[in-house]
Amino acid sequence: MSPPEPEAQAPLTTADVVFAEATPHQRILSWRLNGASWAPPMTIEQYVGRETALSETALSAGGGTTYYVLHPRDDPETIVSACEVTSKTALVADAHGTDGADTVREVKAYSIASVFTNPRFRERGMAAHMLRRVQEAVDQTAEFGALYSDIGRVYYTRLGWKDFRSPQVLLGLADDLTVPATEGVSLLTADEVAPLCERDVAAFRARFAHLARSESAGEGGGTRTHIAFLPTPEQVAWHFARDKYVCQVLLGREVVHRGAKTDDGNGWIYWDHDLREKKLKILRIVTRDEEEGSAETRRGTVKKLVLAALAEARKWGLPKVLIWAPSEEIAAIATEIWRELGPKVHLVFEEREDGSIPSLRWKDGKAVDKVVWESNEYYAWC
Ligand SMILES: CC(C)(COP(=O)(O)OP(=O)(O)OC[C@H]1O[C@@H](n2cnc3c(N)ncnc32)[C@H](O)[C@@H]1OP(=O)(O)O)[C@@H](O)C(=O)NCCC(=O)NCCS
Repeated sequence: MSPPEPEAQAPLTTADVVFAEATPHQRILSWRLNGASWAPPMTIEQYVGRETALSETALSAGGGTTYYVLHPRDDPETIVSACEVTSKTALVADAHGTDGADTVREVKAYSIASVFTNPRFRERGMAAHMLRRVQEAVDQTAEFGALYSDIGRVYYTRLGWKDFRSPQVLLGLADDLTVPATEGVSLLTADEVAPLCERDVAAFRARFAHLARSESAGEGGGTRTHIAFLPTPEQVAWHFARDKYVCQVLLGREVVHRGAKTDDGNGWIYWDHDLREKKLKILRIVTRDEEEGSAETRRGTVKKLVLAALAEARKWGLPKVLIWAPSEEIAAIATEIWRELGPKVHLVFEEREDGSIPSLRWKDGKAVDKVVWESNEYYAWC
C-alpha cells in the first residue's frame, strides 16, 4: 500500500491574516513554535521558561518588549508568524545643527528579534508582511532600529535594512591551556557591573559630544552620522538574566563572575557564557583611559581583561572566546596572546556571514550610507 498523501496546506495569503500585538497566550504559542529553532539544547519547556524570565527583566517588562504575531483572521490560536521588538536607548551625533551647532541626541531606538514563520506557512511572504507592519508601528515613535540577521545579507536588505560589517576575533583554547595569572585585575559580580554601566553611559555621552564637534568642524567631510546603542544597566542585566537561566537549567550551575576589572579602575570587561555555541562571548570591553592614557597603558589594561576572559572560559570548559568588532588595540592584544600562548591558543579574525549580521534601518527608510555604527559589540544584541 502506498503511503498517504501529505495533507494539502490550506491556502493562506497576507489578506487572510491579522497583524496584532500578541496576547500573553499567543506569546507562549509563539515560543512553543519558534523553540523548534532556538530551544536546543534546552527543552521547549525550558526555553519557554527562559523567554518568560526575559520578558520580566527591566528591559522587557512593562512594554519594553512588544510581541507581535500574524494569525489567520478566524483563528487566533494558530500563529503564522511572530517577532519581538525591544525598545532601546541610543545616541546620535552629527553636524545637522541648522546654525552649525553640534548635535548629540539621545533617541528612542529598538531592536527586532526572533523573526519566525510557522513552517506550515513559509515562502508566502508572511514574514515580509509582518516586518512591514512592524516597521510602520515602530516608525511612529523610534528613530532607528537594529536586527541581527541569521539568514544572510539579502532578505532584510530587500525590506529596507542595511547590513553592516561584522568583524570578530575568535580565540580557540586548547583543553590543556593554563592561562597565566595576572596581577591587578579582579572578577566582577552582576551587581558590580551595573554601576560600571552607568559610568560607561556617561563616557558614551562625552564621546558623542566629541564626535558631533568633529563632524561640525567638517572632519571626515562632516556628513557622517554616528550612532550607538547605550550599554545601560537594563540592557546588560537582560544578558545576565539569559545567561543565569541557561546555566542553571542546563548545568545546575550559578554564574558568579560576569566580568573583570583592573584594580586601577581604568578598564573592565563583561561576558556571556553561551552554552549553545560553546563560547564565552564578550559583551563589551571598556578602557576608560581612551582619551588621556598612553597607548601602552591601554594595551596593558586590555591584555589583563582578555586574559581574565580566557581564564573564565577555561573554568567553564568553553573552548572559544569571541569578541565582536575588535578595536585595533584588542586585535593587537589577541595577536600578542596568541604569540605568547600558541599553539595552545588558536586565533581567527573573520567576518560573520551566517549569523548575527548587524543590520540597521532608519525611520521612514531614510538612507543610512553615512551612518557609522560605533561600538557594535555584543552587548547590544538581543
Ligand atoms: C526566515 C523566515 C522567518 C522567513 O519566513 P517566510 O514567511 O517564509 O518569509 P517570506 O515568505 O517573507 O520570504 C521567504 C524568503 O526568505 C528566504 N529564506 C528563508 N530562510 C532563509 C535562510 N535560512 N537563509 C536565507 N534566506 C532564507 C527564502 O529563501 C525566501 O526567499 P525568496 O523570497 O528569494 O524566495 C522563516 O524561514 C523562519 O522562520 N525560519 C526559521 C527561523 C529564522 O531563521 N528566522 C530568522 C532569524 S534572523
